[in-house]
Amino acid sequence: MPAETPDLGAIERAALGEVAAADTPQSLRETRARFLGRRGSLSGVLRSLGELPAERRSAIGSAANALKQRIEAWVGERQAELERDLQSAELAKHRLDVTLPGASLRRGALHPVTFVERDMVEFFQGLGFSVVEGPEVESDYNNFEALNFPPDHPARDMHDTFFVEGGAVLRTHTSPVQIRAMRDREPPFRFIAPGRVFRTDHGSTKSPLFHQIEGFLVDEEVTFADLKGVLYAFAHHLMGSDVPLRFRASFFPFTEPSAEMDFWWNDQWLEWGGCGMIHPRVLENVGVDPARYRGFAFGMGIDRTAMRRYGIPNIHALFDSDVRIREQL
Ligand code: PHE
Repeated sequence: MPAETPDLGAIERAALGEVAAADTPQSLRETRARFLGRRGSLSGVLRSLGELPAERRSAIGSAANALKQRIEAWVGERQAELERDLQSAELAKHRLDVTLPGASLRRGALHPVTFVERDMVEFFQGLGFSVVEGPEVESDYNNFEALNFPPDHPARDMHDTFFVEGGAVLRTHTSPVQIRAMRDREPPFRFIAPGRVFRTDHGSTKSPLFHQIEGFLVDEEVTFADLKGVLYAFAHHLMGSDVPLRFRASFFPFTEPSAEMDFWWNDQWLEWGGCGMIHPRVLENVGVDPARYRGFAFGMGIDRTAMRRYGIPNIHALFDSDVRIREQL
C-alpha cells in the first residue's frame, strides 16, 4: 500500500502557532514533544520515510529534516524569549529606585556642658595649667578636714552633703582635688580639675548634680591680683569682654581672703563660683611650707556658664536628657 504523502505544510503551520502560543517553559517543552518527541508528529514522518516510494523519499526526507531544524530553532528562540520575560518580571518585582533620597544618619553632638568644659580646659592649658582629677566618692578628710573644715563646724552646713555608707561622701566640690594633687607633688603648682560634684540642692539654677572647674596655682610670689587677673581673662574668654562681673567678699575655710564672683545674665547677678588665697593651714596639710609658698584657688560653675552661653534659663534642661531640648542647643 503506497504511503500517503505527509502534509509537512500543515505540521509547519501548527508548529509555528503552538510554539508562539507556549507561555511557560513547561508548555514549550510539551509543544516541542508534540512535534519532535518520540511520538511527535514530525518524528512519525521521519520514521515512516521508508514506506514512501523511492522517488519521493529523498525530497520529503530532506524537507522533513529541514522542518525539524526550523522547529528546533523556533523552540530555542521562544525559550530565550520566555527566559527574558521571566527575568524582567523578577527585576520588576525587586525594583530599586536609585533616585530616592538616602536614609540620613542622625548626627550626635557634644553635650553643652562637655563643650564648655573643653573650652575651659583649653583656656587654662594655654596658661600652662595641667588637668588633674579625683574620684566622685571622696573621703571626709579630703572633702572637708584637709580643707580646714573643723569637725562639726557650721561651715559644713554650706555644703548639703550626700553621705555614702562607711563615712565617705559624694564630693560636694572639686576642692578635694587640690589636696590629692598637692600632697604627692612639690610646688610650684598650676592645676585645673573639672568634674561632677553633688549637693542636696534643688532649684532653677541648682541641681543635686552639677559641674565645677577647680583651678589653683602655688608659687613663691602669688597675689590676689593674679587671681583676679586670671579670672577676668577666663570670664572674658568664655562670655565676651563686655560681660558685667563683680567680686564679693565671702568666706571659705580653705581660702583667706575669700571672694565670690558673679556674672550678669538675664537681669540678675548669677553666682559663678568661689575663690581666694589658699589658707596656710591647707598648705601645711599637704606638706607645703606656707612661709615660702602662697597660692590662689577658685572653683567655678560649668553648668551656669553653659546656661549663659546657650541661653538656657533652667539648669534641669541640661540634665533631663530630653532630646528635643538637646537638639535645639
Ligand atoms: N569649693 C568652693 C565651693 O564649691 C569654691 C572655691 C574653690 C572657693 C576654691 C575658693 C577656692 O563653693
